[in-house]
Amino acid sequence: MKSYAAVDLGPLHDFVEFTPASEEFRADVMAGLALPQKQLAAKYFYDARGSRLFDRICELPEYYPTRTETAILRDHAGAFRTLIGPHASLIEFGSGSSSKVRVLLDTLESIAAYVPVDISREHLLASAKELAEAYPDLRVLPVCADYTRPFEIPTIPGERARVGFFPGSTIGNFTHEEAVRFLRAAAIDLGTDNGLLIGVDMPKDAGILHAAYNDTAGVTAAFNKNILRRINDELGGDFDLDAFEHDARWVAEASRIEMHLVSRNRQRVHVGGRSFGFAAGESIHTENSHKYDVGGFHTLAARAGWRAVSHWVDADRLFSIHYLRVA
Ligand code: AVJ
Repeated sequence: MKSYAAVDLGPLHDFVEFTPASEEFRADVMAGLALPQKQLAAKYFYDARGSRLFDRICELPEYYPTRTETAILRDHAGAFRTLIGPHASLIEFGSGSSSKVRVLLDTLESIAAYVPVDISREHLLASAKELAEAYPDLRVLPVCADYTRPFEIPTIPGERARVGFFPGSTIGNFTHEEAVRFLRAAAIDLGTDNGLLIGVDMPKDAGILHAAYNDTAGVTAAFNKNILRRINDELGGDFDLDAFEHDARWVAEASRIEMHLVSRNRQRVHVGGRSFGFAAGESIHTENSHKYDVGGFHTLAARAGWRAVSHWVDADRLFSIHYLRVA
């Protein structure tokens, strides 16, 4: 059994801990930096600082996904209300600041519970408390977990159906195989009579994509480098953040943005008693952000046992929201 410091739950009813151990972070970093193409998993961006930087990304003028998705949610609120029906519980994977879900909370009838699931413990608890204060009649049950691994959703009294909410196109951070695995696991976690409302970013003009991931204010660069700062702070690494350059590239063949941190020169970095050499120009691959058109996403969902019920796209065809049910 792990033990955790007591949490002040404030207005919350309950809190479920599956907080990942720091040993997992260490093992993943050591293994990732030893690969021929060095890589780090995108989920490790989200410590408290990374979660705040991500919130700032969402407000950047170049970063179209957040405002486009929020507008689609608002425009079709009535359709979600009809599809989901009363007494459903809403399970949000990677809830972050829990801002988009407010559109659903304002729309759905007699919600059984809202279950935000996030890897970033501090950020999760702060956002859940804020939400519980804003919606005093809502049962809010935060779960701290890495949702790419098995975890349990608490039993919710009076729930008629369970609906997963996975906005932000976070599904794009997975490889196709990982996405199918996640979608299959979600079908099981959610149980029978379940649905999944999921946001999916779409392929588009390379210039729009490039600007969205290389913003002029440098927030995305700071977010990308935050993973190195985290390795320094939590694993005693000696990365020189100025010796790496943020790089986000649209890889059309794979329909994805790849984020990298490129070494400006030949150097050696030490982490946890090991040393890792970098050639000048050598990169660490830190994130994939896959873009799916409607047909491509339907194929992926079908492979994982989900049936596409409806989807909504904005007028500029930048972003899509899909409602799936277990096939
Ligand atoms: C977490 C999937 C919404 O891929 O667009 C934003 C993360 N990375 N800018 C994305 C991200 C760089 C983001 N999502």
